[in-house]
Amino acid sequence: MRRFLGTAGFTFFFAPALSMLGCTSNPGSGETESGETGDPNAPTWHQDVAPLVIERCSGCHREDGIAPFSVESYERAKNWAPLMSQAVDAGVMPPWGAKTTEECEPPHGFKHDPTLSEDEKTMMREWAEAGAPEGDPNDAAPLPEPPALALENPDTTVSIGSSIEIAGNDDQFYCFVVDPGVDSTTFLSALQVNPGNSRVVHHVLVYSTTSDEADTLAGDDGYYECFGGVGIDDSSLVAAWAPGAVPNRMPENAPIVLEEGSKLVINVHYHPTGSPEVDDSTSVDLEYYQGLPEFVSVLALIGNFSSPVSNGQGLMDGPNDIGGTPQFIIPPDVSDHTEEMIWTVTDDLPDLRLWMVGTHMHYVGTDMLIGLQRGTASAADDACLLQTPQWDFNWQRGYSYDVPLDEAPLLEPGDQIYMRCNYDNTLQNPFVAEALQEQGLDEPQTVVLGEETLDEMCLGVFGIAVPLSEFLP
Ligand code: HEC
Repeated sequence: MRRFLGTAGFTFFFAPALSMLGCTSNPGSGETESGETGDPNAPTWHQDVAPLVIERCSGCHREDGIAPFSVESYERAKNWAPLMSQAVDAGVMPPWGAKTTEECEPPHGFKHDPTLSEDEKTMMREWAEAGAPEGDPNDAAPLPEPPALALENPDTTVSIGSSIEIAGNDDQFYCFVVDPGVDSTTFLSALQVNPGNSRVVHHVLVYSTTSDEADTLAGDDGYYECFGGVGIDDSSLVAAWAPGAVPNRMPENAPIVLEEGSKLVINVHYHPTGSPEVDDSTSVDLEYYQGLPEFVSVLALIGNFSSPVSNGQGLMDGPNDIGGTPQFIIPPDVSDHTEEMIWTVTDDLPDLRLWMVGTHMHYVGTDMLIGLQRGTASAADDACLLQTPQWDFNWQRGYSYDVPLDEAPLLEPGDQIYMRCNYDNTLQNPFVAEALQEQGLDEPQTVVLGEETLDEMCLGVFGIAVPLSEFLP
């Protein structure tokens, strides 16, 4: 299985939360109450808006949630109406990077896609333009049940087992090493992260490892600072979690393998509130698969090639290459740099089902596209798997196709995965400006492939199901 995992040094780290929206602590004018237009046909909170925003926004925009304001009541939400409409029109809220574009129409929709339809966006806009009318609370549309966030009947729960204080203004990243007590090969069918303090837990990544390195790094405290991912070569990503997410469930007959003795490394991204907060109870619930599954899933990391294509994988020619040889180098002050790379499914691999796909870059990245080019099958079967054209380092995640495993894209020997990453290495890129400032720099730097804040990546994350027979020795 290592052949999937060894392709690249992988770092999945999140930046200090940067708002592309220029977050303000005060919501606009506050004129709303007197600003109602009286348009009798305009959408109203109780009749139209509340069911939608309770379902799509309140997982984060609630009392004690990670987002800057609550939408749980009319009183709370009304003054935010113009900004709410703007944010959904701009496609930045709810946070969901996968977009359908002219160059990328994925073969299937994605599970749990919270994106608003055009009609829903129009409704939000009309509500905001009409001055956010309340409507009649006595004739309110029913509110949706909040999504069930708990994993029912977990087989075990591991907790961070430490008390962490989050103060100051900087985001903090800690890796907690926990022992789920896996004493033989175990199959993991689902897991859920339970934030210990939802005011500050911004993101969680869960890795598994059988290496002693994790314990060494964690020492007696049981945790270590891990700004650049978990910092352990022999580790695999198991899941990524963001606030409001439902339990992370593998395809029904394709659980993830936890080898005997596996530890979990829980990488928590904390975003401070401005006043000191404590987290002493973030935990992960695990549900094990009973019996032997038909397939096992691997979260493979493919990309980050730095040398020219050979044997069907590597970096393609690109702009700004020096001496005519492909290099992963992003010069300073260039706003439209691109790196393109391919990886070919080799003949020794069985047919694979691709059920999840994700993109990963750092701060300079602006857009990433992953495509599938058929080798032996017809070119008409080429597909764009995923595009994240408004790349935001803070909201990266995996996107699972909303189809049964046997309808998910099939990868066959000879097929090529194509990755294209776009970069803007100028001060016009707000993430670059902020990252440079944090490093005490005022000019864009030459950016190369690497794990540090000012390095870059171009890496695909792939949830792949492999027949169990291929996995067993
Ligand atoms: C997964 C969590 C999450 C969900 C779901 C979510 N938001 Fe947000 N929202 C945030 C966070 C966190 C911020 C702060 C800025 C950032 O980190 O991007 C934010 C910021 C905003 C802002 C900007 C605030 C400012 O001060 O400028 C608006 C407006 C907004 N969200 C509206 C919405 C709307 C409307 C929805 C639902 C349709 C929604 N959000 C769903 C987490 C979320």
